[in-house]
Amino acid sequence: MKVFVILPAAGIGTRMAASQPKQFLALGGLPILIHSLRAFAAVPRVSALYVAVREQEIARVQSQIAEFLPNAFQSGHSHPSIHVVSGGDSRQESVANALAALPAAPDDLVLVHDAVRPLIDAATIDRTLDAVLEHGAAIVGLPAIDTVKQVERTAHGALIASTIPREYVVLAQTPQGFRCDLLRRAFAEAAADGFQGTDEASLVERAGHPVAVVPGSAANLKITQPGDLALAEFYLAHRA
Ligand code: C5P
Repeated sequence: MKVFVILPAAGIGTRMAASQPKQFLALGGLPILIHSLRAFAAVPRVSALYVAVREQEIARVQSQIAEFLPNAFQSGHSHPSIHVVSGGDSRQESVANALAALPAAPDDLVLVHDAVRPLIDAATIDRTLDAVLEHGAAIVGLPAIDTVKQVERTAHGALIASTIPREYVVLAQTPQGFRCDLLRRAFAEAAADGFQGTDEASLVERAGHPVAVVPGSAANLKITQPGDLALAEFYLAHRA
């Protein structure tokens, strides 16, 4: 059984108001995407990494990988191979393109991780893989700290429809891991129904398979808006 990792990195990052997509911004002197790749490359169970980027960024990403992850383009026992594929117009399409490129067997495992969550740690990746082996599907999730409200959007702004008890709420992070045959079936069913999800678990849930949750952390933040980068620098500097 092999473990494949998909990193969708084809977003354009409009919420960040930066000069380039957030996955290429520097964190501690290295591109954010390189931190994410290194985190998974350091996990012995990982066989290969597939990064989905926009067509016009393939060459730039390949040269960054060659510079910061030497040996990545050859398969070897001590390091996983890294492959760069073309992304799509949505996160789901970027993951689907990478999934189509994986030389994976039905019982291999696939982890999907947002390229813009550079502070994922090896212990959480390992716990996710263990949960996927046990349940077939598992994601990293952060218990809600704030009280959660469901709202209706009206012409006068948002109005609260109900309060969702927070013990029933987790905020979905990544990695999200699945047996390959399950993930491929969930993607095929979503494509057939025209369903667009913002994560892989939502596709697997609608395919009728239970998805386990392993505890995440605030440090595994998704760098999305101004201020997130400074927070990530803080976590990086204070990492144990
Ligand atoms: O913007 P969002 O929160 O959906 O981004 C999550 C991840 O999905 C990011 O790493 C981003 O680069 C990636 N993405 C992608 N292809 C897109 C849009 C987002 O790979 N078309």
